[in-house]
Amino acid sequence: MNIEEFIRTIPNFPKEGISYKDITPLLQNPQALDFCVKKFAEKINTEVDVIVGIESRGYFFATLLAKHFNAGFVPIRKKGKLPYKTLQETYDLEYGQDILEIHEDAIKAGQKVLIHDDVLATGGTAKAACNLVERLGGEIIQCNFLIELSFLDGRKKLVPNKVNSLITY
Ligand code: PRP
Ligand code: MG
Repeated sequence: MNIEEFIRTIPNFPKEGISYKDITPLLQNPQALDFCVKKFAEKINTEVDVIVGIESRGYFFATLLAKHFNAGFVPIRKKGKLPYKTLQETYDLEYGQDILEIHEDAIKAGQKVLIHDDVLATGGTAKAACNLVERLGGEIIQCNFLIELSFLDGRKKLVPNKVNSLITY
């Protein structure tokens, strides 16, 4: 299956000059969902305790992966959304900064964690997620993305973690 066929590029969204990779056609297709989960799983050859999904587009596949691996799901959310005590990490946006949070009891020391997001662009978001997981003592087995925008070099920010992406532009 060629899953690129299910990804629609929207020019100048959300603003001028940005080519938005719209994965909603892929999400609408159950065979494509199944194919992606299996492709992700092919690259994991160890136990997984926790799938961490990054708000919001990371959630689509993170829960499917949790189900597949019989693992728990943990959300990383943007600031102010999680109700209990949190750890925070600041990360850079194109203009300014934002904050990601995780519940302080979401991961236990030594748990094997797979981090998932839809897109790896500059890597700032995923790096902040890695930091949160590591501060809780989680062992990151891989960072997983549906799409990698390799020209932005996000992968470099995640060294020494393993990175797997299904589609590279
Ligand atoms: C997008 C995308 C990734 C992140 C990648 O999320 O879903 O999470 O940007 O960018 P980076 O590698 O340069 O950090 P966005 O913050 O737009 O929010 P959303 O997922 O809630 O739409
Ligand atoms: Mg996102």
